[in-house]
Amino acid sequence: MEPTFHRGLWVVQPMRGYRFSVDSVILPHVIEGHFVRVVELGAGCGIMALQLFAHERALQFYLVENDKVHFEALEMTIAVNELQPWFYPIFGDVAEMRIDADLVYFNPPFGRGRPGKGGPIAPFLRFLERNKYAEVAYVVPPELDVILSEFLVGRMHLKKEVQVWYKRGTRIIKQWSKEKAAPKRAIVEVPSDQVEQMYWDCP
Ligand SMILES: C[S@@+](CC[C@H](N)C(=O)[O-])C[C@H]1O[C@@H](n2cnc3c(N)ncnc32)[C@H](O)[C@@H]1O
Repeated sequence: MEPTFHRGLWVVQPMRGYRFSVDSVILPHVIEGHFVRVVELGAGCGIMALQLFAHERALQFYLVENDKVHFEALEMTIAVNELQPWFYPIFGDVAEMRIDADLVYFNPPFGRGRPGKGGPIAPFLRFLERNKYAEVAYVVPPELDVILSEFLVGRMHLKKEVQVWYKRGTRIIKQWSKEKAAPKRAIVEVPSDQVEQMYWDCP
């Protein structure tokens, strides 16, 4: 169990294996808008949902995870913070899920080698295809952004609203929506003073 940047909120994650990085901190700080119901695909230990909750971005969080160890960590994160009224963990493969919500967001597995539509991103694309969301946000490497952008523009007719590049161009954050609205947030350069503030000024 570890403290987060949000006073009073704790996160439980495994000592070894996948542990969240700055990607899982920046995406929830860049997402714009307020939502009733959101879905996270591959929620891991729940770190992104914790931050969106702390910033009152949504009321109900549907958190899908198919790895037993991470799902256990997610359940513990929910329990230690007493978030049961707002966080709904769902064990299983996102490819099989149908969940109605206002926003879907994810930090998908990148895998090794060349990611493609048949790689670990395939179940995430399948979910998007089956559920047709009006708002989608993600953090991915540029190769996966090409696949997702083509899909979201071509098949779901979404328009890009927010875009941030960081880690010397190896990560891209995008938020897509039906209507192209001018983003309220200025483009964030990373690392920057703004990012330092994101870490330390959270309530
Ligand atoms: C890069 S991790 C991100 C975890 C968490 N969202 C975060 O930001 O720390 C990707 C997560 O997706 C989960 N995952 C991968 N494929 C999945 C699938 N088909 N269905 C559900 N979860 C999946 C993995 O187990 C892992 O926890």
